[in-house]
Amino acid sequence: MATDFSDIEVEDLDEAQAQSELVRLQSLISQYDKLYYQSDDPSIDDAAYDALRRRNEAIEARFPEFILENSPSFKVGAAPVEGFAKAKHSVPMLSLGNAFERSDVDDFLARIRRFLSLSEDDALEIVAEPKIDGLSISLSYQNGELVRAATRGDGRVGENVTHNILTMDEIPQKLTGKNIPEQFDVRGEIYMSHEDFMALNKAQEKAGAKVFANPRNAAAGSLRQLDATITATRPLKFFAYSAGLAADMKVGTHFEILDLFKSWGFPTNPLTKICLSADELMAVYEKIETGRATLGYDIDGVVYKVNDLAMQERLGFVSRAPRWAIAHKFAAEKATTILEAIEIQVGRTGALTPVAKLVPVTVGGVVVSNASLHNEDEIERKDVRIGDTVIVQRAGDVIPQIVEVVLEKREKNAQPFRLPETCPECGSPAERAIDPATNRQDVVRRCTGGFICPAQARERLKHFVSRNAFDIEGLGEKQIALFYEEGWVKTPADIFTLEVRDSEGLTKLKNRDGFGDKSVAKLWRAINERRSIGLDRFIYALGIRHVGETTARDLARHYGTAESWLAAMQEGVDEASSAYEELQNIDGIGGVVARSLTHYFKEERNLTAVEELLKHVTPQPVVFEQIASKVSGQVVVFTGKLELMSRNEAKAQAERLGAKVAGSVSAKTNILVAGPGAGSKLKKAEELGVQVVSEEEWIELVK
Ligand code: IVH
Repeated sequence: MATDFSDIEVEDLDEAQAQSELVRLQSLISQYDKLYYQSDDPSIDDAAYDALRRRNEAIEARFPEFILENSPSFKVGAAPVEGFAKAKHSVPMLSLGNAFERSDVDDFLARIRRFLSLSEDDALEIVAEPKIDGLSISLSYQNGELVRAATRGDGRVGENVTHNILTMDEIPQKLTGKNIPEQFDVRGEIYMSHEDFMALNKAQEKAGAKVFANPRNAAAGSLRQLDATITATRPLKFFAYSAGLAADMKVGTHFEILDLFKSWGFPTNPLTKICLSADELMAVYEKIETGRATLGYDIDGVVYKVNDLAMQERLGFVSRAPRWAIAHKFAAEKATTILEAIEIQVGRTGALTPVAKLVPVTVGGVVVSNASLHNEDEIERKDVRIGDTVIVQRAGDVIPQIVEVVLEKREKNAQPFRLPETCPECGSPAERAIDPATNRQDVVRRCTGGFICPAQARERLKHFVSRNAFDIEGLGEKQIALFYEEGWVKTPADIFTLEVRDSEGLTKLKNRDGFGDKSVAKLWRAINERRSIGLDRFIYALGIRHVGETTARDLARHYGTAESWLAAMQEGVDEASSAYEELQNIDGIGGVVARSLTHYFKEERNLTAVEELLKHVTPQPVVFEQIASKVSGQVVVFTGKLELMSRNEAKAQAERLGAKVAGSVSAKTNILVAGPGAGSKLKKAEELGVQVVSEEEWIELVK
């Protein structure tokens, strides 16, 4: 029986306690249910029984991601579910970086060797396997039994589609075989074969029902049916490709995991091969690509993965993708069409981006009517003119591109295209800045209107609510455009006062563009959920130039709280301050980012916008997976050549152990790890009396 936290109010439960309480309540309620139905012995009075159920529901409402598969709320009589329940992944479901050509594959291998400090002669096994074009799923097994199936969702939280998965023949519900761990996740791809896809569409057409654009959409549409009996009629297939939670799998390689999966009854892809060099990878890639048309299902590339699991662990992740894997995409599909117009979009940092408006054309199963033209140098280089016949391509999820112009078809009077020198949205001058460091002109032309430019304000808001930032459900680009247009939301803080203003009749959300009672209530709920958010997301959401997710994380990790970050940014506006020096010293930050941050905070209106926002939102210190160690809280600098680990690996390891890695030596430095060839940093450390250790001594220290 789970620990009893029954004396803690629902709103005071933390995540772990809530999970435990749900388990305890489930078990208790089901015992009472059994007694009630089977032995005709209530053994508890109605009021006390109802109180248990109400507590269970209240916890589920606060922590929907922890709703149990066998929750008492799902029992007969309970309200039908609206959509799918959320399902939190125990290990995030990540995406993959892309390789398009041989040199990208060489770079991938070189990066791994560098990171692991492997020489050219050290063996490095890489597994190559087809990249299935379907949708990913995470299947959780407990004691050999399928207990939950979840879609990828945003990688952290997906949808619980267990009922639908239970209808699939290819996914075993009860495992038999050897070495089945008590608890583990199987990750893989759900897909539909070409043959089944065509038959399904034929049947759909006959029935006057929806016809699917491609097998992937058909697979996704078939799986995400609220009525699982529909899923049961759809011919879905599955390939297992990795383990999520797999602590006690007792294997050393990825290939062994696949073999185990196979032995337990999961389909694994038969084209999977272990390779030892880029040449071998390319050979497998070419073979798979040649056979692509006759495979009978869609694949969009070949995935390469480091075979050794210990190496995978050491390599870890950058942002959302593992360092130990990459997707080598097949060459893009191309099509010919006509460029009708070039539209200028203004981004959140004022960048003017030319977008090609095309006569719609199908490329690789998708209708394309826009393509990116990047910047004016690119337009000039390709000499793209309005009215031209152009070749467009689409590679994977990438925005369609114009490859080249078919010059033979150019109209005689076609004129070269020039980007406007004023912003099309606010009329301010649009300029190409000169980089003082290189004296070169920036490739991007930017609107200098800043706060007066409505396009920049709108795009900043769109970024603010985007998926990796505040991610407010029901508040996407379309709604932001509407709210901005109406004058309801001008700054991020306005989002958090919308509900109050709406109740006072200042905005009239209801009955506007699809907003009904229910969706408005849902929107308020979604906004309120974000009044507490991780500091890293908070920083990223501000949309400061050069501050992407990784930098935002570095900043959140370094400063810990919103208060100390903001104080440092304000002080750092003075480039002679120690706060600026500290900022620039954070490993991974450097001059460009530091200047961009101080430039942002120099602008009074930016500071005010952030302060206003902080009245409504409480950023939470980011909890990084850290292991307490002798170096926790210490400021460490690496210098000279490291011989046992790469610089990146050393840094990642130090941070995992709770140390802060700085780029240069200062009075705050605690330890300098000096390899051969150390120069000025070593000298400075000695002057300042900083502890200096060799790489071996460092490894001993963190062992
Ligand atoms: S491995 C951390 N292997 O591709 C590594 N992914 O772009 C996770 N996919 O969301 C993925 N076939 O849905 C892996 N053999 C394969 C795959 C595969 C298809 C999909 C998967 C993932 C996406 C990443």
